[in-house]
Amino acid sequence: MINIHIEMSSMKKWVLITGASSGIGKALAFEFAKNGFNLFLTARNENALTEVSEACQRKFNIESEVFPADLADAGSTDDLVKEISGRKFDVLVNNAGFGIKGDFVETNIHDELKMLHVQLIALLRLTKAVLPKMVESKRGNILSVASVYSFAPAPMQSVYSASKAFILHFSSALQNEVKNANVQISVVCPGITQTEFRTRAGIADKKASGMTAEKVAETSFLQMMKGRHIIIPGFQNKFFVFMAKYIPSELFTSVVRWINNRRGVNQRS
Ligand SMILES: NC(=O)c1ccc[n+]([C@@H]2O[C@H](COP(=O)([O-])OP(=O)(O)OC[C@H]3O[C@@H](n4cnc5c(N)ncnc54)[C@H](OP(=O)(O)O)[C@@H]3O)[C@@H](O)[C@H]2O)c1
Repeated sequence: MINIHIEMSSMKKWVLITGASSGIGKALAFEFAKNGFNLFLTARNENALTEVSEACQRKFNIESEVFPADLADAGSTDDLVKEISGRKFDVLVNNAGFGIKGDFVETNIHDELKMLHVQLIALLRLTKAVLPKMVESKRGNILSVASVYSFAPAPMQSVYSASKAFILHFSSALQNEVKNANVQISVVCPGITQTEFRTRAGIADKKASGMTAEKVAETSFLQMMKGRHIIIPGFQNKFFVFMAKYIPSELFTSVVRWINNRRGVNQRS
């Protein structure tokens, strides 16, 4: 662990953000810091995390810690859970994730299991670690990053889209469970966003450019603070979700495949 550790003594609120080394998580770190939050940032890339952390400290005069962890690894996730277990966080942001593209008969099951560890198992473990204290103190927010695919099965991204549906359903059930405890569970469902996500997943896209990570982060923060449960940033994404809700599922799944085929998303790399 890089110890930019300063005692959690200030009156400022603390936010724990996973996947804060790039993309939406990095933009969320800047957004929370801009709004006066102290940061506890985690991801694998220690150098990138430290850069984000130091930049936020300099620019916004907040406190910040980084804790490198591989959320696909059970031992590393244990270390993170141990590190945070004695602490209280005002906000948990479950953002870390990555995509896998390809027909399920061809994709590597070990990569898919890693993805589920990062996006689901780590999310459950961190939520279990922070939520009881939030409920006890009747204060706190959890923001999980899902996707517009939470609403629609995506052929050639079957495990990814199903995992995002899990995040949405889990968050909605949790929101109901804690509704009398003054704890807010929010889930943000972005569509295409300009981050490293697509290159990392080997997704080429001839047409789409998408929203900036900064805009997604700003909308997520504002809507979370307003107490919104499901946050869908951007008109195009809202339209996609509207269609997903009202077009019969089997047909819409074919539509998603057709759109992705046309855009080159489903091309074999
Ligand atoms: N970009 C899109 O079009 C889009 C659309 C909908 C939803 N999302 C969701 O948005 C979230 C953030 O993705 P992004 O678009 O910002 O992509 P990104 O730029 O690739 O960022 C992904 C983040 O997750 C972290 N991460 C990946 N594997 C990890 C592991 N094994 N252990 C710990 N951290 C790990 C990465 O950090 P390290 O590599 O340093 O570990 C990085 O900070 C994801 O949950 C993604 O599913 C993205």
